[in-house]
Amino acid sequence: MADNSTLVLFGARGNLSRIKLIPGLFHLDEAGKLSDAMKIVSVGRQNISQDEWENEIKDMLENKFKGHYDLKVFERFIKRNIYHATLPDDSNAFRNFAKLLHEDKQFPKNFAFFLSVRPSDFAKIVDQLAEENLLDEDKYWRRVLIEKPFGTNLKSAVELQESISKHLKENQIYRIDHYLGKSALQNILWTRFTNSILDPIWNNNHIDHIQITNHETLGVGERTQFYDATGALRDMTQSHLLQMLALTTMEKPKTFSPDDIRVEKIKLLKSIKPIPINEINKYAFRAQYKSGDIEKEGHVKGYLEELENNKSVVETYAAIRLYIDNPRWKNIPVYLRTAKRLNQSGTFISIKFKNKETDQKLAFNNWLVFSIQPKESTYFEIKTKIPGLNDSDLRATRLEGMNRLEHDEKIDAYETLMLDLLEGNQSRFLHIDEVKAAWSLIDPIIKYWSENLEKVHQYTAGTSDPKESEIIFENKSQFWRKGN
Ligand SMILES: NC(=O)c1ccc[n+]([C@@H]2O[C@H](COP(=O)([O-])OP(=O)(O)OC[C@H]3O[C@@H](n4cnc5c(N)ncnc54)[C@H](OP(=O)(O)O)[C@@H]3O)[C@@H](O)[C@H]2O)c1
Repeated sequence: MADNSTLVLFGARGNLSRIKLIPGLFHLDEAGKLSDAMKIVSVGRQNISQDEWENEIKDMLENKFKGHYDLKVFERFIKRNIYHATLPDDSNAFRNFAKLLHEDKQFPKNFAFFLSVRPSDFAKIVDQLAEENLLDEDKYWRRVLIEKPFGTNLKSAVELQESISKHLKENQIYRIDHYLGKSALQNILWTRFTNSILDPIWNNNHIDHIQITNHETLGVGERTQFYDATGALRDMTQSHLLQMLALTTMEKPKTFSPDDIRVEKIKLLKSIKPIPINEINKYAFRAQYKSGDIEKEGHVKGYLEELENNKSVVETYAAIRLYIDNPRWKNIPVYLRTAKRLNQSGTFISIKFKNKETDQKLAFNNWLVFSIQPKESTYFEIKTKIPGLNDSDLRATRLEGMNRLEHDEKIDAYETLMLDLLEGNQSRFLHIDEVKAAWSLIDPIIKYWSENLEKVHQYTAGTSDPKESEIIFENKSQFWRKGN
């Protein structure tokens, strides 16, 4: 059980908080994971009464659980929730807030600040907390969780870091990548390091290449302006896909302590070679979806039509080839691809083994796949004989283990991460060195793409990877693995 603490949720009335954080905290309370004296202070910028806030919480839980929640826990949850307004035009807002937290005995003095606010507000709130001595660790711990994204490039990430590190030590900063809270991602490490049969084949003698995929049927929706300032590479590759790569390829940590896991992840991310910019078109491919048909949605608009700006070169499809500069992975390509409006949704890591058989009849592509979502499973694809008189009739067979069984507990990634925050476990949060290494890899590609305004390739919504993306493959025997 975590120490008694006060969780201060900035941006409590925002979208993320309504959909994920408040229902997630309730679920943790229901599971008995919150200490009895723990308090939640929801901070917003509007003056609303405690009664109004409690009604808002009720609506959030109703939307999420549709009446399926324990009313006794609800009473307890409501009692630990306090709404507090810091009005933007009140120059004493933070002073008064600090006084409340410091002096009111109902609040345990270990403080966890969850900044679920827009990225432009992160640094300012940390400054304001510091000014009121809310970040000093003396008798009690003080932690700050920073939402995604941590910067929009290396320069802004470094600036944000410089600003917050004036007040916080690294062990007080919890930078989120919510994919790391997914059980299916945690499973990668455990599968790799608890099954010793994998270790001898986890290297460039046996593995031909790795593909890390995140495909969506969804388009950019209402978020056109945000998306056009971001693009697929910044939104997905810099964070989630590189983290999946690190978990798949990092060396075994000395122990499974949070610090040791992060040490190996950092080492791995730092050992990825930068893409040669003079040959960028062989290493990186971008495209945008044009109008087409999506199953269950029907005909949908293209990206440029949604944006109402046909000059944008921002990618909704991005695929890149990377190499890891260490003996285990020397010369083995790792392909990362992410896209909106494809014909299938799915996040999966596919490991293709080398095909050493020279007899074409016997040759076969063995794959090991970690399926992250929607299905959570691990499977190995092998070739087996089809029963019958014909000896040479073979087919692909899956040896599949479901990572989630029907009765298994469903924990949202944010629940895991909020509990980690309260318990002081940083292994599923990003160290600043990981953030910097990831931006260092991605920045040059984004810069090149934004300066080269030639027409971006278009793919029809509802189709699979554009054929042209295959240009990044190292050789002709490689191909995109379809579906998971
Ligand atoms: N990990 C992910 O994949 C993921 C997913 C979604 C969102 N996010 C991140 O999560 C954060 C929140 O996203 P969101 O969609 O919830 O944004 P949102 O709907 O705009 O909510 C932000 C809220 O913060 C409030 N706020 C701003 N400054 C504040 C302050 N000083 N004190 C208290 N409240 C303050 C805003 O109040 P006003 O309305 O008064 O301005 C607003 O209610 C963003 O950084 C976003 O990038 C991450």
